[in-house]
Amino acid sequence: MSISGKKILIAVSGGIAAYKTHFLIRDFVKKGADVQVIMTPDAEQFVTKLSLSTLSKKPVYSDFYGDNGTWNSHVELALWADIMMIAPCTANTLSKMVHGMCDNLVIATYMSAKCPVFIAPAMDLDMYIHPSTKKNLKLAEDFGHIIIPAESGELASGLIGQGRMAEPETIYTAVENYFTGNIPAKSLEGKTVLITAGPTYEAIDPVRFIGNHSSGKMGFSLAEEASKRGAKVILISGPSAQVLKDSNVELYKVTSAREMLAKVFEFYDKIDIGIASAAVADYAPKEVAKEKIKKNDDNLTIELVKNPDILKIMGEKKTHQFLVGFALETQNEEENAKGKLEKKNLDMIVLNSLRDEGAGFKNDTNKIKIFTKTEKKEFNLKSKGDVARDILNFVESQLLK
Ligand code: C5P
Repeated sequence: MSISGKKILIAVSGGIAAYKTHFLIRDFVKKGADVQVIMTPDAEQFVTKLSLSTLSKKPVYSDFYGDNGTWNSHVELALWADIMMIAPCTANTLSKMVHGMCDNLVIATYMSAKCPVFIAPAMDLDMYIHPSTKKNLKLAEDFGHIIIPAESGELASGLIGQGRMAEPETIYTAVENYFTGNIPAKSLEGKTVLITAGPTYEAIDPVRFIGNHSSGKMGFSLAEEASKRGAKVILISGPSAQVLKDSNVELYKVTSAREMLAKVFEFYDKIDIGIASAAVADYAPKEVAKEKIKKNDDNLTIELVKNPDILKIMGEKKTHQFLVGFALETQNEEENAKGKLEKKNLDMIVLNSLRDEGAGFKNDTNKIKIFTKTEKKEFNLKSKGDVARDILNFVESQLLK
């Protein structure tokens, strides 16, 4: 599905980046989109209705009252749109959006919209990193809106840092990806994500092993979702029947915990995000019998030794990496999950309880809770693909902080 024929409602708010929105409108129109522009009263100080309407080939509205006693219906505008794009989105407009401060046509239209909403924030460095902006962006994300993060560079104020509205091409690609099913757009571009998945098998003899029921589904879904978002993905999986649907993911198959550990540390220094979804065996036979063990004796004792805790070692060696662990618990779930967060020096932990129906490693669905040191978020039972999206949305919201 392309952009052609799509109804795109662009809301311009009052920031200097509004000049870049002209290029965006031109690109959408060139590709056959139907573009309607609205603007806040302040935006008129930066760009003119004439230039925006010339490019969009439609009248541009900034208030409820048209010429000759007509009324510009925010409801009609909102329901007409396939997507709404707020570009640039100033700190003020963002704040009004997430708090329902409905004092102009843009906000009234936004609040009437049922379509997906994209936000391309643009503001000065200190405004962008201000806790209130971060909180508002997070709220917008929680509403399900797609944030196209501001970029770093020289700002109109002369300061240098993050705050510039994303380039029109980046915004265009975000929308195009949305229509082609790649949502959200390349939000992890430039990041390297390492994911461990599946069970590990610890050999007892040449034909037997100690393993577990992990299917690898969660880790594979995470890898595919991270790759969709533009990340370079390294997936290190124990034995799993999963078939990778995305050929951009680098898949390394390992068998035992020790092999998994060695593979992880081939890449560890270069990754930005590490997600340990593997169900690593905690113990392995001290010795692996060279030949198949015969069933001669009534009892057989196999001495086990503790495996390395891969994620704990990742936590100990953490320099810049954002680390996500999983906790599959059957009792004292929250307490245990939070304990692991601390003990393994993680940034975030995903808890699933075997007590929840449909959750855990054998199912196609999962029900999770996410904890950071300060936050907790609960999710409904969803497909593992949707859970992967929730997890990566949460990771991205943490990276914004
Ligand atoms: O301590 P526990 O095994 O419950 O912790 C689970 C988390 O630690 C998961 O993210 C799992 O992938 C990771 N882990 C690991 N190496 C181990 C055991 C667990 O990476 N040996």
